[in-house]
Amino acid sequence: MGTGKLRLSKTLAALALMAPLAAAQADEPLRPIANMFDPLSKPAEMIHDSAIITLIICTVIFLIVTGMLVYVCVKFRSRGAIDERKEPPQIYGSSQIELAWTIIPIIITVVLILITTRTIGEIQDHAVPANAVHIRVIGHQWWWEIHYQKPGAKPGEWITDFTTANEIHVPVNVHTEITLESADVLHSFWVAQLNGKTDLIPGLKNHTWIEPRTTGVFFGNCAEYCGTQHANMQLKVFVQTPGDFAAWKIAQATPAPAPAAAEAIAGKQVFFANSCVNCHKVDGTTAIGVFGPDLSRLATRMTIGAGVAANNQENLRAWMRDPSHLKPGVLMPNMQLTETEVDQVVAFLQTLK
Ligand code: CUA
Repeated sequence: MGTGKLRLSKTLAALALMAPLAAAQADEPLRPIANMFDPLSKPAEMIHDSAIITLIICTVIFLIVTGMLVYVCVKFRSRGAIDERKEPPQIYGSSQIELAWTIIPIIITVVLILITTRTIGEIQDHAVPANAVHIRVIGHQWWWEIHYQKPGAKPGEWITDFTTANEIHVPVNVHTEITLESADVLHSFWVAQLNGKTDLIPGLKNHTWIEPRTTGVFFGNCAEYCGTQHANMQLKVFVQTPGDFAAWKIAQATPAPAPAAAEAIAGKQVFFANSCVNCHKVDGTTAIGVFGPDLSRLATRMTIGAGVAANNQENLRAWMRDPSHLKPGVLMPNMQLTETEVDQVVAFLQTLK
């Protein structure tokens, strides 16, 4: 099959919202479209159920109205010559008909409102269980800052255990409580198969939660236009077994070992000699910047630039040469590194695992 054909068929599959999600291997497309008709987590299932009931009610109304319209068009169609002196019966002011077409839609609307508000209420009032995982997600132009709560912190108290970016890991079948904040403009957190959209609003804390039923990688996106690179503000949720999640957490909370190879050591020096450290954090070092994504465990991530490219040597080099080439409008400046320095910094970044 030619690449063009393959691309077309992939686009068609995406349009049909049929792109499979679980098979998110490195050679898979970086941005498959989530099938929102296949919810795999609690709030998404609740939203899906009420959407299906609404869809059924609306389909019945559509069929009745269209059926009557077709019936009238056929039954009273023009048959041959029209006698212009004969008018059809003129009916004015039928109280029964007017009452019927006022009251029935009101009842239908109230039913739809009740279905929706019940679901919203159930999702918002859902109790946070004691074993819940707590994370804080902060929206930035155009990436996601993710904090994990330190185990043992009191309810309502926040102590960050470690931070990461753009890729959230959670255990399967466990409630993950997510606090949403914004560092700049409006963003919206949406992982179609796991939950509904919730806005991230500057100066406000919003809440959402997920309780995924299966392991796998789930793709999400910022769902509120937030500037040039809104489309490249992607999010991934890795749902893992409790054991894998515990191991991931321990690894993330531990600084990566210092580089051993000469090129990576040189890269670390370049990293610290330039202003990288003003914006980025690398655990276990003096780099404690917070304007850009935490790089402590960068090499463990699937993508770079909030999903703009796969996390590999070639793309990291392209990013270090000029981030705006991969992601036009990105707030990270071109550091004007030489080719040697680019290779060295990339060698250092790849040790962060
Ligand atoms: Cu953030 Cu759109």
